Amino acid sequence: MDADPLPPLGAYDPETLDQAFSALREEVETSARALAGPELFRLRWLGRKQGRLKLLSDAWLKEAPPEARRTVGQRFNELKAAIEQTLHALEQQGDASALLGESIDISLPGTAPRLGAEHPLMRTMQDMVQVFERMGYSVASGPEVETDFYNFEALNFPPGHPARDTQDTLVLANQERKPARERLLMRTHTSTVQIRTMESQPPPVRVVIPGKVHRNDESDATHSPVFHQIEGLCVGTDITFADLKGTLDHAMRAFFGPAVRTRFFPSFFPFTEPSADVQISCPFCGGRGCRKCKHSGWIELLGCGMVHPEVFRAVAGKQPAYDPARVSGFAFGMGVDRIAMMKYGITDIGLLYSGDARFLEQFR
Ligand code: PHE
Repeated sequence: MDADPLPPLGAYDPETLDQAFSALREEVETSARALAGPELFRLRWLGRKQGRLKLLSDAWLKEAPPEARRTVGQRFNELKAAIEQTLHALEQQGDASALLGESIDISLPGTAPRLGAEHPLMRTMQDMVQVFERMGYSVASGPEVETDFYNFEALNFPPGHPARDTQDTLVLANQERKPARERLLMRTHTSTVQIRTMESQPPPVRVVIPGKVHRNDESDATHSPVFHQIEGLCVGTDITFADLKGTLDHAMRAFFGPAVRTRFFPSFFPFTEPSADVQISCPFCGGRGCRKCKHSGWIELLGCGMVHPEVFRAVAGKQPAYDPARVSGFAFGMGVDRIAMMKYGITDIGLLYSGDARFLEQFR
């Protein structure tokens, strides 16, 4: 819409003004009908640079002789009010016809948003963590790329200790120039965060650590180089092996059902002494024997033990309250993938890492 410049008014007597302004009022009405929509109308009349009102003000108001300014200004304001009113009406009309124009067929099915599903691993991890939260544990985490110190040395695996071999560690390249304890690797267990937690706070500690771990394992139906653990650590004064047994026994019943029993076997970990492996009675067959428990009635689920004095010594430099003569504690670690597979009847661990929506959709 081009803006025709307004001719000068010429005279400022009431008659001329009457004529000029009523012509403008008519023009407002016609353009409200002629222009397609409120926005064009607004531009035509109220546009800041080329709007008619601006041109009008330039040509008539500013040029008016001093004695006519008041009356021209008044008319100018009236016209402006009329324009704004018309614009408002146009806008409301637009809204109303937009509503009417959109015909709604209420018999059509709705558009269902595609719902995501919580990954079975994350759900299992969350459920298990919650069991411990209800017992007063808090949740901690740590880095997956770790130093040799946190993954091994502080946990009482000295350099060259044969127990390191059982962990099939993936190490980062180009670390040879660093001192051994600073070399980086992918953490092989969440026990690293035991050390990090104790370094950052004095006892008492009750913490669970869910997280991803890595080992140089060949993939097959039950092994994956990436898997998940939940670590637990409880440190205070007078924490005993009976507390460890009671805690795990309760946690297993809370997670798998009240009929589940636990049993403890001697085992070995460098960072616990004594150490134990824990089995639960098969939650699927009640211990009578089935495919899931390989007909033994029992399922091995976790490793645990009393925190080794050397572990306390490793953190006592930073937190002197971890004096092995004064504090005691227990730790445990379980594999989440195995628990999730058991719980949901998944036979191939690879499915948990495949990112296949057809697999994940089943857990909605
Ligand atoms: N970190 C051990 C593992 O990965 C499990 C464990 C944790 C054992 C805590 C004892 C105490 O095998």
